[in-house]
Amino acid sequence: MSYIELENVSFNWPRGERVLAGINLEIEKQETLALVGANGSGKTTLARLILGLLQPSRGRVMLEGKPVGDYTLAARGRKVGYVLQNPEQQFFAQDSAEEIGFALRYRGYTPEQIEVRVAEMLKLFELEDYAATFPFHLSQGEKQRLALAAVMAPGPDFLILDEPITGLDWLRKKRLGTILERVRAEGIGFLLICHDREFGLGLADRQLTLEGGRLV
Ligand SMILES: Nc1ncnc2c1ncn2[C@@H]1O[C@H](COP(=O)(O)OP(=O)(O)OP(=O)(O)O)[C@@H](O)[C@H]1O
Ligand SMILES: [Mg+2]
Repeated sequence: MSYIELENVSFNWPRGERVLAGINLEIEKQETLALVGANGSGKTTLARLILGLLQPSRGRVMLEGKPVGDYTLAARGRKVGYVLQNPEQQFFAQDSAEEIGFALRYRGYTPEQIEVRVAEMLKLFELEDYAATFPFHLSQGEKQRLALAAVMAPGPDFLILDEPITGLDWLRKKRLGTILERVRAEGIGFLLICHDREFGLGLADRQLTLEGGRLV
């Protein structure tokens, strides 16, 4: 049994537009994958299917041997962390520290443990100077890093990162690459959706390409 399994998954929008057709995919827990494909090829749709945020029109998506829909949203979130294509869509807190610490409060962390974990994440993602900053006031690179920090804080098994390098200059890209190398070294697997083949390949055990609704 693989950690994530897609069995003959197809997806059409309600009006019938086909996005994905007969996708078979097995992902191991500690595997790192790069997913590339043209705009509109269905990369985000595939991510949302894996997360159980969309239901396949045909086929099924399994997470640790159970249909992903059988888990509560919270249980899924503990397993697979999702960094949205537009990180602003996931921000809600007044400052970066709260953005990172929020999820921990509901996971049984004590206030002291939260403080330690938030500090650890701020350091790892080079955001120490922005602990008190309103997330929307951060630069694009800082927003991407904060979104990843917030998703990683509670320690999910696996990450789905939807185009995390969009809008980053080469230096920020390189920094994020270094951070993802560390994530990989810690044994946390990820699916990295990314237009930059070179960036993706450098970090991934395997590359997937979506074309015409299929993985090629
Ligand atoms: N809510 C929706 N209703 C109908 N069609 C949609 C909806 N959301 C997306 N689509 C269409 O589904 C297809 C796949 O979209 P998706 O967002 O998965 O592509 P993508 O590969 O992530 O693209 P990008 O590289 O631009 O992020 C596109 O043709 C898109 O226009
Ligand atoms: Mg997308």
